[in-house]
Amino acid sequence: MKPLVVYYSYSGITRRLAEDIALITDGDLRELKPQKPYSFSYHTAIKEVRKEIERGYCPPLMERTESMGDSEVVFIGSPNWLKTFAPPVLSFLRTVDLSNKTIIPFCTHGGGGFGNMMEDYKRECKNSIIKDGIALKADYNFDELKNWLDSNL
Ligand SMILES: Cc1cc2nc3c(=O)[nH]c(=O)nc-3n(C[C@H](O)[C@H](O)[C@H](O)COP(=O)(O)O)c2cc1C
Repeated sequence: MKPLVVYYSYSGITRRLAEDIALITDGDLRELKPQKPYSFSYHTAIKEVRKEIERGYCPPLMERTESMGDSEVVFIGSPNWLKTFAPPVLSFLRTVDLSNKTIIPFCTHGGGGFGNMMEDYKRECKNSIIKDGIALKADYNFDELKNWLDSNL
């Protein structure tokens, strides 16, 4: 059964990683888009994001995400934003029933790896099976990713 590859990306790096994962695993890609995009200015975006994360805000998404299809395995990807996943990912986790599904987190980051993201997935998805994920920087290597997926799936 095809995995689902769900992701949010602000500046395109996590999108590239999601596309590579979908290519290697033959997965179905689904991008999470907030109805109100974050500012193009990095500094303004950081302020917006900090406020949302502090409040645990779930921004409304463009598309309905309730249906998971038949996928048992869901890759979920986000940039590391202030040590956690981006708020649109929280919106996804709170609207979709991921009980008994296997979640494989992935993220891209600027040096902080997953930060607290794995703990945050465990807190949000208590009834899911959460596997070790992969955290990569923008200059990751496709073969390294492929080897990781081959030995972890
Ligand atoms: C609002 C904001 C907050 C960020 N916070 C962190 C952080 O806490 N730790 C880190 O390593 N990188 C941080 N970054 C860098 C991003 O995680 C990194 O550039 C990522 O690869 C961007 O992915 P994207 O192109 O899919 O948006 C932050 C970037 C932004 C815009």
